[in-house]
Amino acid sequence: MVANLSSTSKQIDTILVLDFGSQYTQLIARRVRESDVYSEILPWDINENKIKSINPKGIILSGGPDSVTDNYTPRVPQIVFDLNIPILGICYGMQTLAEQFGGQVISSKKKEFGYSELNVTADCILFSNLDKTLNVWMSHGDQVQDLPDNFDLVASTSSAPIAAMQHSTKLIFALQFHPEVTHTDDGRTILDNFIFKVCKANPDWKMDDLIGQRIQEIKNQTENNKVLLGLSGGVDSSVTAALLQKAIGNKLVCVFVDNGLLRKGEAEEVMNTFKENMNLNVIKSDSEDVFLRHLKGVEDPEQKRKIIGRTFIDVFDAESKKLKKVHFLAQGTIYPDVIESSGSESKEARVIKSHHNVGGLPDEMKMDLVEPLRDLFKDEVRKLGVELGLPSEMLNRHPFPGPGLGVRILGEVTKDKTTILKEADHIFIEELIKADLYKMVSQAFAVFLPVKSVGVVGDERRYAEVIGLRAVETVDFMTARWAHLPYDFLEHVSGRIVNEIEQVSRVVYDISSKPPATIEWE
Ligand code: XMP
Repeated sequence: MVANLSSTSKQIDTILVLDFGSQYTQLIARRVRESDVYSEILPWDINENKIKSINPKGIILSGGPDSVTDNYTPRVPQIVFDLNIPILGICYGMQTLAEQFGGQVISSKKKEFGYSELNVTADCILFSNLDKTLNVWMSHGDQVQDLPDNFDLVASTSSAPIAAMQHSTKLIFALQFHPEVTHTDDGRTILDNFIFKVCKANPDWKMDDLIGQRIQEIKNQTENNKVLLGLSGGVDSSVTAALLQKAIGNKLVCVFVDNGLLRKGEAEEVMNTFKENMNLNVIKSDSEDVFLRHLKGVEDPEQKRKIIGRTFIDVFDAESKKLKKVHFLAQGTIYPDVIESSGSESKEARVIKSHHNVGGLPDEMKMDLVEPLRDLFKDEVRKLGVELGLPSEMLNRHPFPGPGLGVRILGEVTKDKTTILKEADHIFIEELIKADLYKMVSQAFAVFLPVKSVGVVGDERRYAEVIGLRAVETVDFMTARWAHLPYDFLEHVSGRIVNEIEQVSRVVYDISSKPPATIEWE
């Protein structure tokens, strides 16, 4: 993986993470930053000048998918040892340390994945003030069989007799388990012990520093050239816009495509925030008609997704062609997108963020990418947004799918249906906020169902539309539980929807969890 960070002008204490390819590498850097110490990730084969320019207080060697028992697998470069600073090897990082110091690593037939009970058997500063028995998270095939010279055993598990070791004279430590994942008991304390007690780093890093640093990086990369950004109104593209504006001012040109499938008032809010209040150069493309025309008569959800994606590209492409000499395209790619889209950070595997589930931009639009949030997690992006002064309603909004109401209207999408759904959704969300329930659920929205149903309103029979309400609680959106909203609340929302939207005769509440149901209805 290649992190896009470069050194700041102000030298702050830095813990360098050398990446051997683990899925948890970013998590290590994130944990360090959570302790207010700056952390930077670089590929394991870092060169001497680079490492010296960073001047780290300590180095963490990540895990990785390779086996040190194979030829030509990554090793820690000699410069890392020559610096004589503290080193912590995790998983593969431990195995390569063991091998490089003359110990023996074996490939075990059984891969150990999950919880293990760790017994700490010797004094070690990493485990200071902790219990002698901890539940730790393991994910490895290989393990250290024989301790290398000058290393002492620190802890064992039943399947990994050498689960932690330390050098007898140097500040070199190694752990077979993953302290960076939340499943490991006291993982945070173990990492803090390394950061503060071993490396003696100062907790003097703040989000502000990250903003200053990213601004400098954007300036260096774009060298006073114009940058194009597709603004969607979502958290990631909004924070990217705010950051770029601070960095390059009016060299940033944003294109906001109003596809008519956004939530009620969303387009106006985006324009108010960015154009009116932040004076950003935003070109609004009022493209509702084009989208609806292309969607006419289409009922199949996958078809609808493809049409919305393609139409977005066409509109965006047409708008950007009106601009002269734009070589850079900014994107609000965040770290989970990187994992989901390619699983790899290599340049070849880079994928245009598919926020509209598009395969990428057309060839003739190939521009250099500017992705200042590429190594951050969602909550870090939100914190950055707060520091940049974005409204909290924008930052803390529930997720919204790229194809928007297109996937929340079942069957053909029409202007009438979008109008009804926007109103119903707005009532539901407004009431959730009023009742202080909005933050309690992870995602909530209304769905336009493809059936009509009979109702009685006043003395009149009303044969009209049915609206579904969906609210879920989830951490990762991979699994979700339907939210147990109070009956009184649901009754009130249902009453408002039927009374205020005359085209609706009935409201239903979705009590399906994921799996087997998905969160969206499609
Ligand atoms: P499902 O319906 O698969 O949704 O359980 C999981 C989460 O993903 C969101 N979602 C999307 N987000 N583009 C997006 O950016 C999309 O095409 C898309 N489809 C679903 C959904 O809202 C939920 O949060």
